[in-house]
Amino acid sequence: MSHIIIQGGGRLEGALTIQGAKNSVLPILAASILHPGRTTLLGCPHLSDVEASIRILRHLGCRAGWENGALVVDASTIDRWDIPDSMMREMRSSVVFLGAILARMGWAELSHPGGCELGPRPIDLHLTALRQLGAQLREESGCLRCTAQHMEGREIVLSMPSVGATENAMLAACGAEGETVLVNAAREPEIVDLQSYLCGMGCPVRGAGSSTVCIQGRRRTHDVTHTIMPDRIAAATYLAAVAASGGEVELHGVRCGHLSTVTAALHAAGCHIAGGEGRLMLRSEGRLRAVGTVRTAPYPGFPTDAQAVLMAALLRAQGATVFVENIFENRYRHVDELCRMGADISVAGRVAVITGVDALCGARVRCTDLRGGAALLVAGLSAQGETRIDDIFHIQRGYEDPVGDLRALGAEVRMEDG
Ligand code: UD1
Repeated sequence: MSHIIIQGGGRLEGALTIQGAKNSVLPILAASILHPGRTTLLGCPHLSDVEASIRILRHLGCRAGWENGALVVDASTIDRWDIPDSMMREMRSSVVFLGAILARMGWAELSHPGGCELGPRPIDLHLTALRQLGAQLREESGCLRCTAQHMEGREIVLSMPSVGATENAMLAACGAEGETVLVNAAREPEIVDLQSYLCGMGCPVRGAGSSTVCIQGRRRTHDVTHTIMPDRIAAATYLAAVAASGGEVELHGVRCGHLSTVTAALHAAGCHIAGGEGRLMLRSEGRLRAVGTVRTAPYPGFPTDAQAVLMAALLRAQGATVFVENIFENRYRHVDELCRMGADISVAGRVAVITGVDALCGARVRCTDLRGGAALLVAGLSAQGETRIDDIFHIQRGYEDPVGDLRALGAEVRMEDG
């Protein structure tokens, strides 16, 4: 098992190009089976979750693999509609394949996505939306058997703007007769990227980015080439790292508008930030001030995925910062690990209070989940001495080359086996 070793305490300086977004590429890979032909994805990050999606696509009978740096899927040969339990458990977002398989094949058989890393992650909204389109779903001992010989577009009101349920409903609606109108849809930029991919293959979708998304189903599709949008959470992670350690970074290939709540918080903490066309610059003296209260919320609110890395950046800030986690019930599992490094954090339910300490000290810590693991990187870089981070497979689900990126900023960090 690999681990990461960091010698912390140094300033970070340099430029980085931000990878393509994990949360955009995964639903797009599921969507690729809607078209019985080729999808070419540019800017697709090399991540373990992407490899897990490729395995699902191949299991379904599609051809999928890397060609000259692009990820190419040919779904003309798809001949199955089931996803084995072991593949479903590898990655929670595998559930978005459900809508796409139903739309293309009329049948689907898969199990519940496994685990409960951030607290319960039900899929009731996904299933309600599919039922409203006319799918019949039966749940038997953890297995979902679905048929949808004929789906018909209609208005679907989501009781909560769930990202995954919005994506699943959009994909299923591509196989439904007529127009589907999704009300109270999630507004995340990744939904806009999915819309632009679907439009590119010939499925008319409009409204993404607002809370009403309209999909015209059963249109003739064609081969499509699409560039994955930049990963706003990877960008937030590197901004947090430089904010915490002190130094200066220029991020390339970012969309500044996607990061406005994160950069507002870092600005309030005392960082100097300047944005331009596809570029974002941050300068920090390394000693930040507390920022009051940070409440996670659906986009355009502060992203729950950036909560842990911002928290890590504020561990040495002057004063106390309050975090309120409104999206997931159990998203403070990184807190115990941060406390091993000398952080002063108290948690009560959805609220965490971070009181800045003078210094953090390197320690042996363990990733509890993807973004919690990223928070350990941020904290380790600003701690005195050596930090060892175990269970880094969590980090590798969402960051293409975190060690290479941080070394490019001058960090003393390396990956070790054993
Ligand atoms: C996606 C992102 C994840 C991010 C999250 C919120 C991907 C691959 N993952 O996850 O990184 O943290 O959005 O921005 O894009 N819920 C229900 N019933 C449902 C579905 C969701 O109660 O059927 C609840 C969840 O338990 C959670 C909330 O709704 O409390 C938001 O979840 P959702 O937006 O669906 O997140 P994901 O799509 O799982």
